[in-house]
Amino acid sequence: MSRIRTAGLLKMKQEGKKITALTAYDSSFAKLFATCGIDVMLVGDSLGMVLQGLDSTVPVTTAEVAYHTRCVRAGAPDAFVIADMAFMTYPDPSTACFEAAELMRAGANMVKLEGGEWLVETVQALTRQGIPVCAHLGLLPQSVNVVGGYKVQGRDEDSAAALVNQARALQAAGAQLLVVECIPSSLGEAVAKAIDIPVIGIGAGNKTDGQILVMHDMLGMNADYLPKFTKNFLAGRDSLTAAVEAYVDEVRSGAFPGPEHSFNS
Ligand code: KIV
Repeated sequence: MSRIRTAGLLKMKQEGKKITALTAYDSSFAKLFATCGIDVMLVGDSLGMVLQGLDSTVPVTTAEVAYHTRCVRAGAPDAFVIADMAFMTYPDPSTACFEAAELMRAGANMVKLEGGEWLVETVQALTRQGIPVCAHLGLLPQSVNVVGGYKVQGRDEDSAAALVNQARALQAAGAQLLVVECIPSSLGEAVAKAIDIPVIGIGAGNKTDGQILVMHDMLGMNADYLPKFTKNFLAGRDSLTAAVEAYVDEVRSGAFPGPEHSFNS
């Protein structure tokens, strides 16, 4: 597998090639994902839910994300790995830099943090220190206690326009990638068109520059509750490899996500 870095992801956007991404937390799955052609692996703080059995990402720590980043890096030495910055580890630029450094030492190529314009100085500081940044807009799981639940964001004109402006501000601050979560497909498309950096969607329609899913969801492991925007790629297939390859194929062709996995405004 060739080494993908931020320049490679940017080129994919420019050439209209969809970016395939999955969360990963251990070396075995990281190795499998690399073999199947996954472009980006995210060591998400979703590990709080899917690995630790918690009901939110809030209790997850930098040490825990760093541990799983080391595991992923061991399994996929050449992969492009993003590590999530944990809840309340980026209240100011200086703290963010020291916390992010732990994730970079653990093997991350980039860190991801949730929020809009209030992060501009933090993104600038991280970038200045040599730490590439992925911003995250839309539904922000770390703010679930403020927002009052996991709800689709950007449904009205004002909040949609605000989200596009936030994306522009974060790009101008130095962010090199953006994840947008649970927004209408039309807004996913508008954000991807409004900025030059690649936009990876989860529940944001199929017009973003790439897709990401939580690996447990796309392997149908949470059978009681499968969010609308996800799909069980293992259903009807007889191996993990076949499931991940099907995900890669459907993201690349634009078949996933279909309208049944997307939100309207
Ligand atoms: O933590 C995570 O898994 C994420 C994805 C939902 C993008 O941030």
